[in-house]
Amino acid sequence: MKLAVVEGDGIGKEVIPAAIEVLDALSLPIEKVPVELGYGKWEKTGSAITYEDLDILKECDCILFGAITTPSDPSYKSVLLTIRKELDMYANIRPIKPIDGIRGVTGRNDFNLVIVRENTEGMYSGIEEIHEDVAYTKRVITRKGSTRIAEYACKLAKNRQNRVEIVHKSNVLKSDRLFLDVCRQTASSQHVEYHDTLVDSMAYNLIVHPNRYDVIVTTNLFGDILSDMAAALVGGLGLVPSANIGKKHAFFEPVHGSAPDIAGKGIANPIAAVLSMKMMLEWYELTDEAIIVQDAIEYVINQNSVTPDLGGKSTTPEVGQAIADRVRQLID
Ligand code: NAI
Ligand code: MG
Repeated sequence: MKLAVVEGDGIGKEVIPAAIEVLDALSLPIEKVPVELGYGKWEKTGSAITYEDLDILKECDCILFGAITTPSDPSYKSVLLTIRKELDMYANIRPIKPIDGIRGVTGRNDFNLVIVRENTEGMYSGIEEIHEDVAYTKRVITRKGSTRIAEYACKLAKNRQNRVEIVHKSNVLKSDRLFLDVCRQTASSQHVEYHDTLVDSMAYNLIVHPNRYDVIVTTNLFGDILSDMAAALVGGLGLVPSANIGKKHAFFEPVHGSAPDIAGKGIANPIAAVLSMKMMLEWYELTDEAIIVQDAIEYVINQNSVTPDLGGKSTTPEVGQAIADRVRQLID
Protein backbone atom coordinates (compact mmCIF):
# COMPACT_ATOMS: atom_id res chain seq x y z
CA MET A 1 0.00 0.00 0.00
CA LYS A 2 1.45 3.33 -1.06
CA LEU A 3 0.00 6.55 0.31
CA ALA A 4 0.84 10.08 -0.85
CA VAL A 5 0.71 12.48 2.08
CA VAL A 6 0.03 16.11 1.20
CA GLU A 7 -0.11 18.47 4.16
CA GLY A 8 -0.60 21.56 1.98
CA ASP A 9 -0.92 24.97 3.60
CA GLY A 10 -2.15 26.54 6.84
CA ILE A 11 -3.77 24.08 9.24
CA GLY A 12 -3.17 21.28 6.72
CA LYS A 13 0.35 21.22 8.19
CA GLU A 14 -1.14 20.68 11.65
CA VAL A 15 -4.07 18.30 11.13
CA ILE A 16 -2.35 15.88 8.74
CA PRO A 17 0.54 15.07 11.13
CA ALA A 18 -2.14 14.32 13.76
CA ALA A 19 -3.97 12.00 11.34
CA ILE A 20 -0.68 10.30 10.45
CA GLU A 21 0.05 9.76 14.13
CA VAL A 22 -3.24 7.89 14.43
CA LEU A 23 -2.51 5.91 11.25
CA ASP A 24 0.94 4.97 12.59
CA ALA A 25 -0.68 3.69 15.79
CA LEU A 26 -2.37 1.02 13.66
CA SER A 27 1.03 -0.31 12.48
CA LEU A 28 -0.18 -1.06 8.96
CA PRO A 29 2.22 -1.86 6.11
CA ILE A 30 1.62 1.48 4.39
CA GLU A 31 4.46 3.29 2.63
CA LYS A 32 4.02 7.04 3.04
CA VAL A 33 5.26 9.36 0.30
CA PRO A 34 5.32 13.03 1.35
CA VAL A 35 4.46 15.44 -1.47
CA GLU A 36 4.73 19.21 -1.13
CA LEU A 37 2.00 21.08 -2.99
CA GLY A 38 0.14 24.32 -2.67
CA TYR A 39 0.41 28.01 -2.15
CA GLY A 40 3.57 27.79 -0.04
CA LYS A 41 5.27 25.88 -2.85
CA TRP A 42 3.95 28.40 -5.42
CA GLU A 43 5.48 31.27 -3.44
CA LYS A 44 8.83 29.46 -3.32
CA THR A 45 8.98 28.00 -6.82
CA GLY A 46 6.28 29.71 -8.90
CA SER A 47 4.41 26.44 -9.26
CA ALA A 48 1.86 24.99 -6.86
CA ILE A 49 1.91 21.53 -8.49
CA THR A 50 4.17 20.14 -11.22
CA TYR A 51 3.82 17.26 -13.70
CA GLU A 52 6.36 15.34 -11.59
CA ASP A 53 4.11 15.81 -8.55
CA LEU A 54 1.16 14.48 -10.53
CA ASP A 55 3.22 11.45 -11.61
CA ILE A 56 4.09 10.72 -7.97
CA LEU A 57 0.42 11.03 -6.97
CA LYS A 58 -0.61 8.71 -9.80
CA GLU A 59 1.94 6.07 -8.67
CA CYS A 60 0.38 5.97 -5.18
CA ASP A 61 -2.86 4.07 -4.45
CA CYS A 62 -4.36 7.06 -2.76
CA ILE A 63 -3.73 10.47 -1.22
CA LEU A 64 -4.27 11.87 2.26
CA PHE A 65 -4.57 15.61 1.86
CA GLY A 66 -4.79 18.53 4.31
CA ALA A 67 -5.85 21.82 2.72
CA ILE A 68 -4.49 24.35 0.32
CA THR A 69 -4.74 28.12 0.30
CA THR A 70 -6.04 29.55 -2.96
CA PRO A 71 -4.96 33.16 -3.51
CA SER A 72 -7.04 35.50 -5.66
CA ASP A 73 -4.18 35.82 -8.20
CA PRO A 74 -5.76 34.78 -11.53
CA SER A 75 -2.52 33.09 -12.67
CA TYR A 76 -2.79 30.59 -9.81
CA LYS A 77 -4.35 27.36 -10.99
CA SER A 78 -6.29 25.48 -8.33
CA VAL A 79 -4.28 22.49 -7.14
CA LEU A 80 -7.39 20.65 -5.98
CA LEU A 81 -9.16 21.04 -9.31
CA THR A 82 -6.00 19.94 -11.11
CA ILE A 83 -5.68 16.78 -9.02
CA ARG A 84 -9.37 15.92 -9.18
CA LYS A 85 -9.35 16.31 -12.96
CA GLU A 86 -5.96 14.71 -13.72
CA LEU A 87 -6.73 11.67 -11.58
CA ASP A 88 -10.35 11.76 -12.70
CA MET A 89 -11.74 11.49 -9.20
CA TYR A 90 -15.30 12.19 -10.13
CA ALA A 91 -17.18 11.37 -6.93
CA ASN A 92 -16.82 13.53 -3.84
CA ILE A 93 -18.36 11.76 -0.86
CA ARG A 94 -19.16 13.78 2.23
CA PRO A 95 -20.80 11.89 5.08
CA ILE A 96 -22.77 14.05 7.51
CA LYS A 97 -23.17 11.84 10.53
CA PRO A 98 -23.48 12.95 14.14
CA ILE A 99 -20.59 11.96 16.38
CA ASP A 100 -21.41 10.61 19.83
CA GLY A 101 -21.02 13.32 22.43
CA ILE A 102 -21.33 16.30 20.08
CA ARG A 103 -24.41 18.18 18.94
CA GLY A 104 -24.44 20.64 16.08
CA VAL A 105 -26.29 23.94 15.84
CA THR A 106 -29.73 22.35 15.71
CA GLY A 107 -29.10 20.17 18.76
CA ARG A 108 -30.42 17.06 17.01
CA ASN A 109 -28.67 13.82 16.17
CA ASP A 110 -31.45 11.84 14.48
CA PHE A 111 -29.94 11.94 11.00
CA ASN A 112 -27.25 10.22 8.98
CA LEU A 113 -26.82 11.39 5.43
CA VAL A 114 -24.18 11.51 2.75
CA ILE A 115 -23.67 14.14 0.09
CA VAL A 116 -22.44 12.78 -3.24
CA ARG A 117 -21.03 15.68 -5.19
CA GLU A 118 -20.03 15.54 -8.86
CA ASN A 119 -16.40 16.54 -8.77
CA THR A 120 -15.10 17.18 -12.27
CA GLU A 121 -17.46 19.50 -14.12
CA GLY A 122 -20.41 21.81 -13.43
CA MET A 123 -19.49 25.30 -12.32
CA TYR A 124 -15.90 24.17 -11.68
CA SER A 125 -15.25 23.38 -15.34
CA GLY A 126 -12.36 25.84 -15.32
CA ILE A 127 -13.66 27.31 -18.57
CA GLU A 128 -13.61 30.99 -17.82
CA GLU A 129 -13.23 34.27 -19.63
CA ILE A 130 -12.26 37.26 -17.59
CA HIS A 131 -12.46 40.75 -19.10
CA GLU A 132 -12.39 44.09 -17.40
CA ASP A 133 -16.14 44.64 -17.25
CA VAL A 134 -17.51 41.18 -17.74
CA ALA A 135 -16.48 37.72 -16.63
CA TYR A 136 -17.86 34.33 -17.68
CA THR A 137 -17.69 30.85 -16.18
CA LYS A 138 -19.07 28.05 -18.29
CA ARG A 139 -21.16 25.51 -16.38
CA VAL A 140 -20.64 22.13 -18.00
CA ILE A 141 -23.00 19.22 -17.40
CA THR A 142 -22.46 16.08 -19.47
CA ARG A 143 -24.44 12.88 -19.81
CA LYS A 144 -21.30 10.87 -19.02
CA GLY A 145 -20.46 12.92 -15.91
CA SER A 146 -24.04 12.87 -14.64
CA THR A 147 -24.43 9.14 -15.30
CA ARG A 148 -21.34 8.07 -13.41
CA ILE A 149 -22.12 10.24 -10.37
CA ALA A 150 -25.72 9.01 -10.36
CA GLU A 151 -24.46 5.41 -10.58
CA TYR A 152 -22.11 6.02 -7.68
CA ALA A 153 -24.93 7.50 -5.58
CA CYS A 154 -27.19 4.54 -6.40
CA LYS A 155 -24.45 2.08 -5.46
CA LEU A 156 -24.11 3.80 -2.08
CA ALA A 157 -27.90 3.95 -1.67
CA LYS A 158 -28.21 0.19 -2.17
CA ASN A 159 -26.15 -0.35 0.98
CA ARG A 160 -28.23 2.22 2.85
CA GLN A 161 -31.92 3.07 2.45
CA ASN A 162 -32.11 2.49 -1.31
CA ARG A 163 -33.18 6.04 -2.08
CA VAL A 164 -31.53 9.13 -3.50
CA GLU A 165 -32.42 12.79 -3.31
CA ILE A 166 -31.44 14.61 -6.50
CA VAL A 167 -30.59 18.26 -5.85
CA HIS A 168 -30.61 20.69 -8.77
CA LYS A 169 -31.87 24.04 -10.03
CA SER A 170 -33.45 22.92 -13.28
CA ASN A 171 -36.24 25.49 -13.04
CA VAL A 172 -33.65 28.14 -13.91
CA LEU A 173 -30.57 26.35 -15.21
CA LYS A 174 -31.29 24.40 -18.38
CA SER A 175 -28.04 22.47 -17.87
CA ASP A 176 -29.57 20.98 -14.73
CA ARG A 177 -32.44 19.53 -16.74
CA LEU A 178 -29.90 17.09 -18.22
CA PHE A 179 -28.49 16.31 -14.76
CA LEU A 180 -31.95 15.69 -13.32
CA ASP A 181 -33.11 13.52 -16.23
CA VAL A 182 -29.97 11.38 -16.16
CA CYS A 183 -30.16 10.92 -12.37
CA ARG A 184 -33.82 9.92 -12.58
CA GLN A 185 -33.17 7.43 -15.41
CA THR A 186 -30.17 5.94 -13.61
CA ALA A 187 -32.02 5.53 -10.31
CA SER A 188 -35.01 4.05 -12.07
CA SER A 189 -32.92 1.54 -14.03
CA GLN A 190 -31.13 0.53 -10.82
CA HIS A 191 -34.38 0.15 -8.88
CA VAL A 192 -33.40 2.87 -6.42
CA GLU A 193 -36.17 5.16 -5.19
CA TYR A 194 -35.65 8.81 -6.09
CA HIS A 195 -36.99 12.21 -5.29
CA ASP A 196 -35.71 15.64 -6.27
CA THR A 197 -35.48 19.03 -4.59
CA LEU A 198 -34.41 22.46 -5.81
CA VAL A 199 -31.13 23.48 -4.23
CA ASP A 200 -32.48 26.57 -2.45
CA SER A 201 -35.26 24.58 -0.88
CA MET A 202 -32.70 21.92 0.03
CA ALA A 203 -30.59 24.49 1.89
CA TYR A 204 -33.58 25.11 4.14
CA ASN A 205 -34.70 21.52 4.48
CA LEU A 206 -31.25 20.24 5.27
CA ILE A 207 -31.20 22.36 8.43
CA VAL A 208 -34.85 21.92 9.40
CA HIS A 209 -35.43 18.28 8.37
CA PRO A 210 -32.02 16.60 8.03
CA ASN A 211 -33.58 13.24 8.96
CA ARG A 212 -35.54 13.22 5.70
CA TYR A 213 -32.44 12.47 3.66
CA ASP A 214 -30.13 9.57 3.12
CA VAL A 215 -28.07 9.85 -0.08
CA ILE A 216 -28.05 13.29 -1.70
CA VAL A 217 -26.64 13.55 -5.21
CA THR A 218 -25.84 16.92 -6.74
CA THR A 219 -23.60 18.97 -9.00
CA ASN A 220 -20.19 20.36 -8.09
CA LEU A 221 -20.89 23.84 -6.70
CA PHE A 222 -24.16 22.91 -4.97
CA GLY A 223 -22.44 19.96 -3.26
CA ASP A 224 -19.58 22.19 -2.15
CA ILE A 225 -21.93 24.71 -0.55
CA LEU A 226 -24.41 22.25 0.95
CA SER A 227 -21.66 20.17 2.56
CA ASP A 228 -20.10 23.14 4.38
CA MET A 229 -23.57 24.12 5.50
CA ALA A 230 -24.36 20.61 6.65
CA ALA A 231 -21.13 20.65 8.71
CA ALA A 232 -23.03 22.94 11.10
CA LEU A 233 -25.43 20.04 11.76
CA VAL A 234 -22.67 17.88 13.22
CA GLY A 235 -20.67 20.47 15.13
CA GLY A 236 -18.52 22.32 12.64
CA LEU A 237 -16.00 22.12 9.83
CA GLY A 238 -13.44 20.54 12.12
CA LEU A 239 -15.49 17.31 12.05
CA VAL A 240 -16.42 16.65 8.43
CA PRO A 241 -14.28 14.34 6.27
CA SER A 242 -14.50 13.62 2.57
CA ALA A 243 -13.36 11.18 -0.05
CA ASN A 244 -12.75 11.90 -3.73
CA ILE A 245 -13.11 8.64 -5.60
CA GLY A 246 -12.24 7.71 -9.16
CA LYS A 247 -11.88 4.45 -11.03
CA LYS A 248 -8.20 4.05 -10.14
CA HIS A 249 -7.39 6.63 -7.50
CA ALA A 250 -8.81 8.03 -4.31
CA PHE A 251 -8.07 11.11 -2.33
CA PHE A 252 -9.13 11.77 1.26
CA GLU A 253 -9.34 15.25 2.77
CA PRO A 254 -11.19 17.19 5.43
CA VAL A 255 -13.96 19.38 3.99
CA HIS A 256 -12.45 22.47 5.61
CA GLY A 257 -9.79 24.71 4.07
CA SER A 258 -6.44 25.99 5.31
CA ALA A 259 -8.09 28.27 7.93
CA PRO A 260 -5.52 31.10 7.89
CA ASP A 261 -7.35 32.72 10.84
CA ILE A 262 -6.20 29.94 13.20
CA ALA A 263 -3.18 28.50 11.35
CA GLY A 264 -0.02 28.21 13.43
CA LYS A 265 -1.88 28.48 16.73
CA GLY A 266 -2.09 24.74 17.36
CA ILE A 267 -5.84 24.86 17.90
CA ALA A 268 -7.17 23.35 14.65
CA ASN A 269 -9.43 20.39 15.21
CA PRO A 270 -7.73 17.34 13.65
CA ILE A 271 -10.84 15.10 13.82
CA ALA A 272 -11.99 15.86 10.24
CA ALA A 273 -8.52 14.83 9.03
CA VAL A 274 -8.53 11.70 11.20
CA LEU A 275 -12.01 10.80 9.92
CA SER A 276 -10.75 11.34 6.34
CA MET A 277 -7.95 8.87 7.13
CA LYS A 278 -10.65 6.53 8.45
CA MET A 279 -12.48 6.80 5.10
CA MET A 280 -9.18 5.80 3.50
CA LEU A 281 -9.04 2.68 5.72
CA GLU A 282 -12.57 1.81 4.55
CA TRP A 283 -11.50 2.29 0.93
CA TYR A 284 -8.64 -0.17 1.59
CA GLU A 285 -11.32 -2.44 3.10
CA LEU A 286 -9.59 -2.30 6.49
CA THR A 287 -12.97 -2.25 8.20
CA ASP A 288 -11.84 -3.37 11.68
CA GLU A 289 -9.16 -0.68 11.77
CA ALA A 290 -11.70 1.94 10.66
CA ILE A 291 -14.00 0.93 13.53
CA ILE A 292 -11.12 1.21 16.00
CA VAL A 293 -10.35 4.75 14.78
CA GLN A 294 -14.03 5.76 15.11
CA ASP A 295 -14.19 4.30 18.64
CA ALA A 296 -10.99 6.09 19.61
CA ILE A 297 -12.33 9.43 18.35
CA GLU A 298 -15.56 9.00 20.31
CA TYR A 299 -13.62 8.04 23.44
CA VAL A 300 -11.43 11.15 23.22
CA ILE A 301 -14.48 13.37 22.65
CA ASN A 302 -16.21 11.87 25.66
CA GLN A 303 -13.07 12.58 27.72
CA ASN A 304 -13.43 16.20 26.52
CA SER A 305 -9.88 16.13 25.15
CA VAL A 306 -10.99 18.40 22.32
CA THR A 307 -9.92 21.64 20.65
CA PRO A 308 -11.52 25.06 21.36
CA ASP A 309 -14.01 24.83 18.44
CA LEU A 310 -15.67 22.02 20.45
CA GLY A 311 -15.36 23.90 23.73
CA GLY A 312 -12.18 22.15 24.88
CA LYS A 313 -8.68 23.30 25.76
CA SER A 314 -6.57 20.69 23.98
CA THR A 315 -4.14 21.47 21.19
CA THR A 316 -4.08 19.79 17.77
CA PRO A 317 -1.12 17.52 18.64
CA GLU A 318 -2.70 16.62 22.00
CA VAL A 319 -5.92 15.47 20.32
CA GLY A 320 -3.95 13.47 17.72
CA GLN A 321 -1.86 11.89 20.45
CA ALA A 322 -4.92 11.06 22.59
CA ILE A 323 -6.66 9.36 19.65
CA ALA A 324 -3.47 7.46 18.75
CA ASP A 325 -3.01 6.34 22.39
CA ARG A 326 -6.58 5.06 22.50
CA VAL A 327 -6.08 3.22 19.20
CA ARG A 328 -3.06 1.46 20.70
CA GLN A 329 -5.07 0.52 23.81
CA LEU A 330 -7.90 -0.88 21.67
CA ILE A 331 -5.49 -2.94 19.58
CA ASP A 332 -3.69 -4.44 22.62
P1 NAI B 1 -11.89 27.30 5.99
O1 NAI B 1 -12.61 26.02 5.92
O2 NAI B 1 -10.41 27.25 5.92
O3 NAI B 1 -12.29 28.06 7.35
C1 NAI B 1 -13.62 28.48 7.64
C2 NAI B 1 -13.77 28.71 9.16
O4 NAI B 1 -13.79 27.44 9.83
C3 NAI B 1 -12.61 29.48 9.76
O5 NAI B 1 -13.09 30.35 10.76
C4 NAI B 1 -11.74 28.41 10.36
O6 NAI B 1 -10.98 28.84 11.46
C5 NAI B 1 -12.75 27.35 10.77
N1 NAI B 1 -12.16 26.00 10.66
C6 NAI B 1 -11.90 25.33 9.51
N2 NAI B 1 -11.33 24.16 9.80
C7 NAI B 1 -11.22 24.08 11.13
C8 NAI B 1 -10.68 23.12 12.01
N3 NAI B 1 -10.14 21.96 11.57
N4 NAI B 1 -10.70 23.37 13.35
C9 NAI B 1 -11.25 24.50 13.80
N5 NAI B 1 -11.77 25.46 13.02
C10 NAI B 1 -11.74 25.26 11.70
O7 NAI B 1 -12.46 28.22 4.84
P2 NAI B 1 -12.00 29.66 4.34
O8 NAI B 1 -11.52 30.48 5.48
O9 NAI B 1 -13.08 30.13 3.51
O10 NAI B 1 -10.78 29.38 3.36
C11 NAI B 1 -9.42 29.50 3.74
C12 NAI B 1 -8.53 29.06 2.59
O11 NAI B 1 -8.70 27.66 2.38
C13 NAI B 1 -8.85 29.73 1.25
O12 NAI B 1 -7.62 30.02 0.60
C14 NAI B 1 -9.63 28.68 0.48
O13 NAI B 1 -9.46 28.81 -0.90
C15 NAI B 1 -9.00 27.42 1.00
N6 NAI B 1 -9.86 26.22 0.93
C16 NAI B 1 -9.24 25.06 0.64
C17 NAI B 1 -9.94 23.88 0.63
C18 NAI B 1 -9.19 22.64 0.38
O14 NAI B 1 -7.97 22.64 0.28
N7 NAI B 1 -9.87 21.52 0.28
C19 NAI B 1 -11.39 23.84 0.90
C20 NAI B 1 -11.95 25.13 1.27
C21 NAI B 1 -11.19 26.27 1.28
MG1 MG C 1 -15.61 23.72 0.08
